[in-house]
Amino acid sequence: MTKLIAGNWKMNGSLAANEALLSALAGGLPTALSSAPCDVAVCIPAPYFAQFQALAATMPALAAVALGAQDVSGQSAGAFTGEVSAAMLKDFACRYAIVGHSERRQYHGETDALVAAKAQQALAVGITPIVCVGETLAEREAGTTTEVVKRQLAAVIHANGHCISEIVLAYEPVWAIGTGKTASPEEAQAVHAVLRAQLAAATEHASRVKIIYGGSMNAANAAILLAQPDIDGGLIGGASLKVADFLSIVSAAAA
Ligand code: PGA
Repeated sequence: MTKLIAGNWKMNGSLAANEALLSALAGGLPTALSSAPCDVAVCIPAPYFAQFQALAATMPALAAVALGAQDVSGQSAGAFTGEVSAAMLKDFACRYAIVGHSERRQYHGETDALVAAKAQQALAVGITPIVCVGETLAEREAGTTTEVVKRQLAAVIHANGHCISEIVLAYEPVWAIGTGKTASPEEAQAVHAVLRAQLAAATEHASRVKIIYGGSMNAANAAILLAQPDIDGGLIGGASLKVADFLSIVSAAAA
């Protein structure tokens, strides 16, 4: 299947820095995508959605880059100060919304049930949720990796029923995020296979659900990770802010 490389800028950027990054990305993408197709997205801070749209209107190569959000409310509208609804993301033509990133779970107390509600809100307006699951170092060392990721995914399956085939699933071991430590290709593949099997029990379309890997994926390790049978792309944090590195990852996925 076509791979997905999604940048997660996190809380980084400015009008000037975004313009420089996106124009360099637009300049390099035609070459990076020359051998095979690859879906590319950038999940950027919500205040810059309008800037992205305006730049895309003047840079034709950005048509190959889908816009994504880093979060979405679990509610549809109303008195929820500070929240951004799925319908608002849709107004800016967001294609994706990350939900349940470990930083949201860890620093903002997001529960499995809330993450499932966020996925539901996104799906209801036709936005693809990129549902993140992953174990902490303590959980891995305790041998509970499978149990943790299955519990996290089960909540999303339970709330979304047959729509589950419309999600993108991201396996992001928490200990690998921003640390420079990557899961080995074998470790990542083993968890992806567990998740694929869990999806297969819920939908006959499990084979077409993209399961992407995140956690210190970079220009040097992308090709080997992406060569694993159940790794269908990457969710890229730090390396998505360095255009040359991000383009190398896209090239590896489009090989
Ligand atoms: P990283 O972040 O690539 O910097 O490890 C990945 C993520 O948090 O999505």
